[in-house]
Amino acid sequence: MPKPVRKIVFPVAGLGTRFLPATKVVPKEMLPVVDKPLIQYAVEEALEAGIDQFIFVTGRGKHAIEDHFDHAYELEQTLAEKNKHDFLEEIGRTVPKAGNIAFTRQQKPKGLGHAIWCARNFIGDEPFAISLPDMLVDANPSCLKQMVEVYNETGGNVIAVEQCAPEDTNKYGVIAPGAVDGRTLEVTGLVEKPDPSEAPSNLFVLGRYILTPKVFEYLDKQKPGAGGEIQLTDSMASLIGEQPFHALAYEGVSYDCGDKVGFLKANVALSLKREDMAGRVREALAELGLKS
Ligand code: G1P
Repeated sequence: MPKPVRKIVFPVAGLGTRFLPATKVVPKEMLPVVDKPLIQYAVEEALEAGIDQFIFVTGRGKHAIEDHFDHAYELEQTLAEKNKHDFLEEIGRTVPKAGNIAFTRQQKPKGLGHAIWCARNFIGDEPFAISLPDMLVDANPSCLKQMVEVYNETGGNVIAVEQCAPEDTNKYGVIAPGAVDGRTLEVTGLVEKPDPSEAPSNLFVLGRYILTPKVFEYLDKQKPGAGGEIQLTDSMASLIGEQPFHALAYEGVSYDCGDKVGFLKANVALSLKREDMAGRVREALAELGLKS
């Protein structure tokens, strides 16, 4: 068995410009899908995979994330006095074990690779996961859990992939696939945001990664790539051939909540899965002339 994955990095320094003015003071990761902030979905997904040490790479104006994962004494006391035990239990679940959560800052927006590099001293010499909370993955077992199962077999590096429309490869990191074994594919190449005419496939990197700490050796000296940013994809590409590198065509559904329509779709889809809401949501959709 390879070393267990215990740590996860959440890069959450982004400005969330696509959601302004909503994100002027509220971090985009705190936007709710139904009634839970995006970041909490990502944390719960990690916990399901047995990963319980969280490193947030934040930026200015992201305090709400720190507060969300801490006790809220006044609120807890008020809920207790009002005998609202369900809510009390619900918000209690958001508080990780003391010492299992750390925050560092990406002081300049130099790209995803740079954000991950900012977490290097918290990771040390261990394999670790990365999750981009904008991408909400509805899967059972969770996407990261499916990936940990593959990692336990293959060791090395494992990323989740999904197919995109061929014309959309320039929005994502894209893999060149090698040998296929069920849902697991060997990764023989990785390119960030390739033009559709040059993309090695339409399998895109979804925003869930399990990587070895060796990636930091490349991030240390990584030059800016696509969009003038320090790209994680470029440093991961350097690991190919040196260490096992696999992609998992995970089972589940993803919602790109960094996009307004994707965000609305996630809200509708997940509310339709909620027993306490589905009926009324269906009625509301019917009133709008929509089928569900
Ligand atoms: C980032 C990664 C890209 C990945 C994408 C998933 O891009 O660089 O490889 O496919 O997330 O959402 P960004 O969305 O930050 O441009």
